[in-house]
Amino acid sequence: MADLKARIIGTGKALPQKILTNADLEKMVQTTDEWIRTRTGILERRIASSAEATSDFAVTAARIALDNAKFSPLDIDLIIVCTCTPDMLFPSVGCIVQSAIGASRAAAMDLSAACSGFVYGLATAKSFIESGMYKVILLIGTDTLSKITNWEDRSTCVLFGDGAGAAILSAQKGESGILSVYLGSDGTRSDILKVPGGGSRAPLCADVLNSKSHTIHMDGQEVYKMAVENMVAASQQALALAHLTQEDLKIIIPHQANLRIINSVAKRLNIKEDKVFVNLQKYGNMSAATTIIALDEAQKSGVISQGDVVELVAFGAGLTWGAAIIRW
Ligand SMILES: CC(C)(COP(=O)(O)OP(=O)(O)OC[C@H]1O[C@@H](n2cnc3c(N)ncnc32)[C@H](O)[C@@H]1OP(=O)(O)O)[C@@H](O)C(=O)NCCC(=O)NCCS
Repeated sequence: MADLKARIIGTGKALPQKILTNADLEKMVQTTDEWIRTRTGILERRIASSAEATSDFAVTAARIALDNAKFSPLDIDLIIVCTCTPDMLFPSVGCIVQSAIGASRAAAMDLSAACSGFVYGLATAKSFIESGMYKVILLIGTDTLSKITNWEDRSTCVLFGDGAGAAILSAQKGESGILSVYLGSDGTRSDILKVPGGGSRAPLCADVLNSKSHTIHMDGQEVYKMAVENMVAASQQALALAHLTQEDLKIIIPHQANLRIINSVAKRLNIKEDKVFVNLQKYGNMSAATTIIALDEAQKSGVISQGDVVELVAFGAGLTWGAAIIRW
């Protein structure tokens, strides 16, 4: 089985219709377009309606990825949905997607690694495929962070958006596929980015709602520092595991949380701006959906061609981080 690689053979994305601009946010909290633009690089983001949930975008993205791969739902052996904003505690979003697309042969599960979810998912899919256990995997990164955002907290509500991206991975021989994945975590720093309420530690009740502890709590500056440091290290580790160097990369697709974080990572890695894919001005930070939506856009806009080496690198709550090297 060692010669089989997990190859991405189709991708798709789905976004809410509703666009929330920086000008809209100026009317909601004490902020300015100028502050948001210069501190984050974000101009607008997509926000789910009250009727829409995480799985709705996952299902649409999955159908597009299947079409793109020219595969049927019945070809899928396993569905992995990376999310930290499931529709409900159970069933998993994986099972909701499995039912909606009619993937009746597939096993289904969710994976929780916040914004690093899709990179963790790539490692999981790669392992299942290379072990020979599964041949075709639907891997989805999907989140609706707007549902757990405190819309009165200007230091967090300007950063996030909603969306989903999906990839079909298939066991294939040859040069193309996921070459390496490096993963890391540091639970001792979990306090700097968390949603403390609404789980089994503090189940939803009036106190949780009144204190808004069911929303995102973040120490922005600490997260910023940890993100830069660990995305740089993960990127270097993943390249070393693939026996490649910076020069071999066609493009690096970093998690899109803040343009200043992306620029710092690129600078420390000595990567030129034109080798870094950026779309956060349109979407903000969509958590697990971010890197796969960026990969979908990079590929479909012609930035990536067959044979190109691409790196995905992400960082998120947990803390978690990781990087993947893919030969297209
Ligand atoms: C959140 C973030 C943009 C804040 O930028 P920053 O340069 O660190 O800003 P600070 O937190 O130092 O705040 C500077 C000032 O701006 C204010 N401020 C915060 N949010 C603001 C907003 N939306 N509009 C205007 N002012 C704001 C602060 O209150 C502070 O004011 P003060 O100096 O009077 O206290 C930045 O820390 C960041 O991006 N961190 C990483 C977040 C992240 O990526 N999270 C997800 C990881 S997956």
